[in-house]
Amino acid sequence: MTAPLSEQPAVLILNGPNLNLLGRREPAIYGTDTLGDIEDLCAERAETLGLAIEFRQTNHEGELVTWVQDARDGADGMILNAGAYTHTSVALLDALSVLDLPVIEVHLSNPYRREAFRHRSFVSPVARGVICGLGAQGYVLALDALARLIDLGE
Ligand code: DQA
Repeated sequence: MTAPLSEQPAVLILNGPNLNLLGRREPAIYGTDTLGDIEDLCAERAETLGLAIEFRQTNHEGELVTWVQDARDGADGMILNAGAYTHTSVALLDALSVLDLPVIEVHLSNPYRREAFRHRSFVSPVARGVICGLGAQGYVLALDALARLIDLGE
């Protein structure tokens, strides 16, 4: 977190498999920003909004599930780009279902313009909102949305 949890609302930003390769991974689809660039963008916006963020990435489904479970202790909101697990993980859906905080699902690309297997999301049914197709800007928009939702207690 960029500041102690007690001082600022805390947002957990979780990234799933292969997002560590951003910048080198299919740039025509995902753009040229690295995950580090996206983290920097988020940190800058979070500071303006008065939010503390923790930004993580994993290639492991179980680790992602554990992080979602852990969010019950101390996080006020979540941004989740679960990568391919979005389309496959019932375990992720089950973990998200237990959470009592706003979750914004984010995708860099627009899955609905892509292969049919990307049209199903196990995250969307439990997400407060979904932002896709806007590249790295989607994370910033998600932070804006969460700041308002947390402020309103929604
Ligand atoms: C993604 C879209 C997913 O379909 C894909 O598996 C990813 C990235 C996105 O950000 O556009 O890994 O979540």
